[in-house]
Order: sequence, then C-alpha cells, then structure tokens
Amino acid sequence: MNLSPASCVVGVCGLGQMGASAAVCFSRAGYKVLLWGRDAARLAATPPQFAKLHAFLDEHVGPPAGAIGDIELSADLRTVDERADVILECVTEDLGQKADLLSRLTAAKERKALLLSTTSGLSITAMGRQSGTQHLLVGAHFWNPAHLMPIVEIIKGDDTSEERMGWATELATRIGKTPVRVEKDVPGFIGNRLLHALWREAIHLVETGVASPADVDLVASLTFGLRLPAVGPFANMDLVGLELLSQIQSYLLRDLSSAAGVMPAVREHLAAGHTGMRSGHGFHDWTARDPAALISLRDRQIVNQLKFLRGGK
Ligand SMILES: NC(=O)c1ccc[n+]([C@@H]2O[C@H](COP(=O)([O-])OP(=O)(O)OC[C@H]3O[C@@H](n4cnc5c(N)ncnc54)[C@H](O)[C@@H]3O)[C@@H](O)[C@H]2O)c1
Repeated sequence: MNLSPASCVVGVCGLGQMGASAAVCFSRAGYKVLLWGRDAARLAATPPQFAKLHAFLDEHVGPPAGAIGDIELSADLRTVDERADVILECVTEDLGQKADLLSRLTAAKERKALLLSTTSGLSITAMGRQSGTQHLLVGAHFWNPAHLMPIVEIIKGDDTSEERMGWATELATRIGKTPVRVEKDVPGFIGNRLLHALWREAIHLVETGVASPADVDLVASLTFGLRLPAVGPFANMDLVGLELLSQIQSYLLRDLSSAAGVMPAVREHLAAGHTGMRSGHGFHDWTARDPAALISLRDRQIVNQLKFLRGGK
C-alpha cells in the first residue's frame, strides 16, 4: 500500500476530542482528510477547533515542513467508506458501537482499506470479528491530546497480518509519531495498563484514608513523575538496583490494591453526579479553578518536555 500523502486519503470517523485532533495530525503531514461525524451541528462547529489546534502547534512546535492537507467534513458515512484508503475510527469507547460502525464500511471492506481503531483498550480481535473486518483492522491507540502526544500504540489483533502492522507503523511514522508495537491484544494495551495500575492505587490510598487526592497528586507529580520522561520504569529499576527492588517487593506488593472492578469511591462520586472536571466536581472541586488554564499548562508542559528530550538526545 502506498501511504505517501500524494497517494493516500485518510478518513476519520468520530467528532470527539480524538477525532478532531487526529484529523489535524494527518492534515499537518500533508494528507487529504475526510472527517465524518453523525451530528451535522457538531460537524459545522469543528473548523474553529482545527484553527485553534493549528495555531497552538504553529506557535509552540513550529509550522509543518510541507503543505497542510485539506480536511473535508461530511455527515454521510459513504464519503469516507467510498473514498478513504485508511480509516481511523474514533467513536465512543463501546465495542458494540465501534463494531457497528466498522461493519457499515462495506465499500472500504471490498477495497481492503486499512482500518484503524483508536480504542483505549478494547479487544481489536473482538471488534474485528464482530464487524467482519478482522483481516483489515489494526489497533492504533493515539494518546490525548493526539496533536501533541508522540506515541501511537500499534496493536496486533489475533487476525491482524504482519503486512498491516507494517502499514499502520509506517503511517504513524509519516505523521511524526513514534509507533510502539503491541504484540498481543490485551485489554488496555501497554499505556492504559500502566496508567490504571497507578490510578487504582491512587484511589485506594484515598479510600483507605492514607492521604487526600491533592496530596496523592502532589506526590505523583513531584516524585517519580518528574523523573519519568527521562527514566522509564525499567531504566529506573536498573538504576535503583534489583536488590533494593526485591527487598521492597517482598513486603509491599501484597499490600497494594487488587480491586478488580469499578472502585467504591468512583461509584460514590458518580452517584452524586460528580463526573469530573466538566461537571465541576470529581475527586477535586473544580468550581473555583479554571480547567482551561490547567489544560493549557498541561499542553505547554508536554511541548517543553518534548523539546527537552529531543534536545537531550
Ligand atoms: N479522550 C482520551 O483521553 C482518549 C485517549 C486515547 C484514546 N481514546 C479513545 O478514542 C475514542 C474516542 O474518544 P474521545 O475522547 O474522542 O470521545 P468523545 O466522547 O470526545 O467523542 C466520541 C465521539 O463519537 C461520537 N459517537 C459515539 N457513538 C457513535 C456512533 N455510533 N457513530 C458515530 N459517532 C459516534 C460521539 O458523538 C462523539 O462525537 C474512544 O475509543 C476512546 O477510548 C480517548
């Protein structure tokens, strides 16, 4: 498959955070993008969103080397189905809805288009088999915010061919991302397994009265969080030394949370309508804080961290 921007049209399905941001990534790499969403009003509201992302990237990362590809909006799935060589689905995290969407791509199936899913951790194998796209589908887990985060996890479903893994990997590289192969289709892939292990323990510390959410955040951000971009878990384990690691593991691991479902503190917040930042309350009270300022701080921090890491290599 010729994946050069001159020969390849990219379709993106879904108008949420990930869809809009991924569309911008492809367009900045020169690809013609067809963005499909089922909600016409939301579709009409996306161009200002693109302009904002482009402006941020131009200012903080620099303008793209080549021409920016056009993003064509459509509320008709046939536009993507009939014309896109690569289709990235970015709809809500629900296996049934994702499989239903993929199963509707009948023309793309006939053309053997490259189908990608940005699921956070659902089974690529199950999604493919349920939609009849198992031989076409590859996992391509972008991270949020997709226009800034450098890694895309490329997931091999049980039916995914090596050839398609190669295409997905090449495409991620062509848009300036660092592809990471996930060889087995396990829930949560690599990143979300690590993240949710940390979050489970963070919630457990709060549930058991050890510390407040603010203090857990502080310790995570200002201890291992400071080192993580330079020293990943395995590099850090080697740095600490495996003797000390084994001494700590011998008494600590048995005390960590092994919760196997939605945790009580999460259920309680949800029952109270505290769904997170957008509702004003989650583990923190956001009513007196400015979420936009926090997101802006996060994005500038990512940019600075990447500049530092790239400069340091
Ligand atoms: N937000 C994140 O941090 C993040 C990070 C990485 C991956 N993801 C994954 O990306 C995907 C999208 O997440 P998001 O954060 O953009 O979600 P979102 O809620 O912002 O957007 C989802 C979009 O899909 C649309 N949608 C839902 N069901 C649909 C259907 N059946 N047909 C067409 N459109 C439908 C919704 O209207 C919405 O516009 C999910 O699989 C999610 O797990 C999210």
